Amino acid sequence: MSEKDDTVVVRGLRDVAAGESKISYPDPNGALYYVGYNIDDIIGRTDYEEVAYLLIHKKLPNMQELDKFKTELVSEMKLPDPILKSIKTTPANCLPMDVLRTEVSHLGEYDPEGKVFSEPANKRRASRLIAQVPAIVATLYRSRREEYVPVPREDLDLVQNFLYMLKGTFPHGSAVKVMHRLMTLHIDHGFNASTFAARVTASTNSDMYSAVTSAIGTLKGPLHGGASEKVMEMLDEVYFEGKVEEYIQGLLDNKKKIMGFGHRVYKTQDPRTKHLRGIVEEFSNNFGTSHLYDKCKKIEEIVYDRKKIYPNVDFYAAVALDALEVGKEFFPLFFASSRIVGWVAHILEQYEDAVLLRPSQKYVGELGRLFVPIGQR
Ligand code: CMC
Repeated sequence: MSEKDDTVVVRGLRDVAAGESKISYPDPNGALYYVGYNIDDIIGRTDYEEVAYLLIHKKLPNMQELDKFKTELVSEMKLPDPILKSIKTTPANCLPMDVLRTEVSHLGEYDPEGKVFSEPANKRRASRLIAQVPAIVATLYRSRREEYVPVPREDLDLVQNFLYMLKGTFPHGSAVKVMHRLMTLHIDHGFNASTFAARVTASTNSDMYSAVTSAIGTLKGPLHGGASEKVMEMLDEVYFEGKVEEYIQGLLDNKKKIMGFGHRVYKTQDPRTKHLRGIVEEFSNNFGTSHLYDKCKKIEEIVYDRKKIYPNVDFYAAVALDALEVGKEFFPLFFASSRIVGWVAHILEQYEDAVLLRPSQKYVGELGRLFVPIGQR
């Protein structure tokens, strides 16, 4: 190694473009595009499956294509028996995210196309995962509550089936609409940490299940998908609105991060927040939970005054999921149930790009140390 190593280290890979993508664009100025469509133009006007099709095929489907895609997804929601059995017998103290990670890896053993690695086979695999991840989540959710697990119904689409399997009752129209919006808002977000992890694994030409398993392990962390669960813990802890100011200022005084705030990409408001805030506001009007909404708005004000940072996707998503009565330990699994679309779309794109993702490092350790055999140390 030369005397002076000029290798430039970009800590945290901040602002480093690790590849090209046509899937989604989080614009730092506060917009988000899915394959070129601004989310503001599509949220509430499209079905989640329609956007999933867009991300995989890079074009919006016509009615026939969408119907075919929806039918295909629902037909893939039934999990292989060994997976169902494994989920139902998982130890109760095992974290739900750990079960999801394990069962996605486990699914790889039952892939009907085995080791076939062609583009059409990988696209079919992508559809299977889009259908099976929410099915695993719903199965685990019901099993943990010792409730029977409904079998997916052919007369319902994926989103309706997800709700049906979670709740065990025929889904209400308004809940389905909210679910489409929520799932679409989580569907993809550029080269975020879990997507990047999936792409690194895919870049070695490893299989899709391995790549998604890497992504789930990465999503689990509290700086990424685990943040929403922490948001709810914070909201539960600061029960009285009157105590909010003192509590948040106390965290900031102690240099603690406020979960659900800040973002690596956005220099301004996260474009997903206004849609999520809208959902939460609707809930608070319909279910009389305005105390929670008011508390959130107050936290938003305090954090902005003090740090000039905004809520990210996890802040209001946590409150919306709470209103849908999804237990907080299941929030990151809900996130994974729709982010699976982004992951598989990126894995397919990475296979096409066919380049190994392998960065260099700047070595800062010692060289030329004198070796002493173990008996003489
Ligand atoms: N609470 C308080 N201060 C914060 C926060 C926060 N949540 N986020 C950033 N800051 C401050 C940070 O202390 C630093 O201030 P200073 O310059 O005075 O030291 C400044 O803002 C820059 O922060 P950073 O940690 O260098 O920013 P980053 O780009 O490395 O981190 C982040 C981005 C999302 C990891 C961070 O904002 C964070 O830890 N947020 C809380 C966890 C969270 O909500 N995660 C979900 C992320 S969005 C959804 C997803 O991708 O999963």
